[in-house]
Amino acid sequence: MSHGDLVGPFPEGADPEEYDRLRRRVLWQLPMGLYLLGTSSGEAKNLMTLNWAMQVSARPKQVAVSVESSAVSHDLLAEGGCFALSLVDREDRALARKFVKPAAHDAASRRLNGVAYETAATGAPILAAAVGWLDCEVRQQVSLGSHTLFVGEVVAAGGGRDAAVLRMEDTRMSYGG
Ligand SMILES: Cc1cc2nc3c(=O)[nH]c(=O)nc-3n(C[C@H](O)[C@H](O)[C@H](O)COP(=O)(O)O)c2cc1C
Repeated sequence: MSHGDLVGPFPEGADPEEYDRLRRRVLWQLPMGLYLLGTSSGEAKNLMTLNWAMQVSARPKQVAVSVESSAVSHDLLAEGGCFALSLVDREDRALARKFVKPAAHDAASRRLNGVAYETAATGAPILAAAVGWLDCEVRQQVSLGSHTLFVGEVVAAGGGRDAAVLRMEDTRMSYGG
């Protein structure tokens, strides 16, 4: 019997389809934030919805994001060597749906998909309405198959506004699993 494109390994004796459903459910239960990832290279800029982000070291201050190899943001990250992570106000949850495809960039009005951004020191775009943001220079890049992990050192931070920050559980969306 073929299990199509189910990803192994499978525990001894487990039904692959049943196990795949259970594994996905548990992976989706991992508590996660939901961010906008800003990338730039030359004149090009993009914002994309991303939940695979976390702080990964304290000295130096480093944050990692995992980005699909096929994403426009992936190429911008690899070429531009920087990213900015914007924390989104829970009230702005609709923004998460706006940035799941490469964004239309209007450099003159500093908007991506009609949404105002500001430019960080690295050149990466920050959501103008962000609750907080971290501007990072890429220090390491690890290829993981479907995704590449980009580890960035925080070179600037801003915001820190006292507002509820958007998390995966505030939406009906899921990713990965
Ligand atoms: C809720 C949600 C979370 C996502 N999280 C990630 C993520 O962590 N990493 C990733 O590469 N893509 C993630 N995506 C998919 C990207 O947003 C989408 O594929 C992306 O916009 C394509 O990138 P591009 O605009 O740079 O081409 C997520 C999508 C949704 C709806």
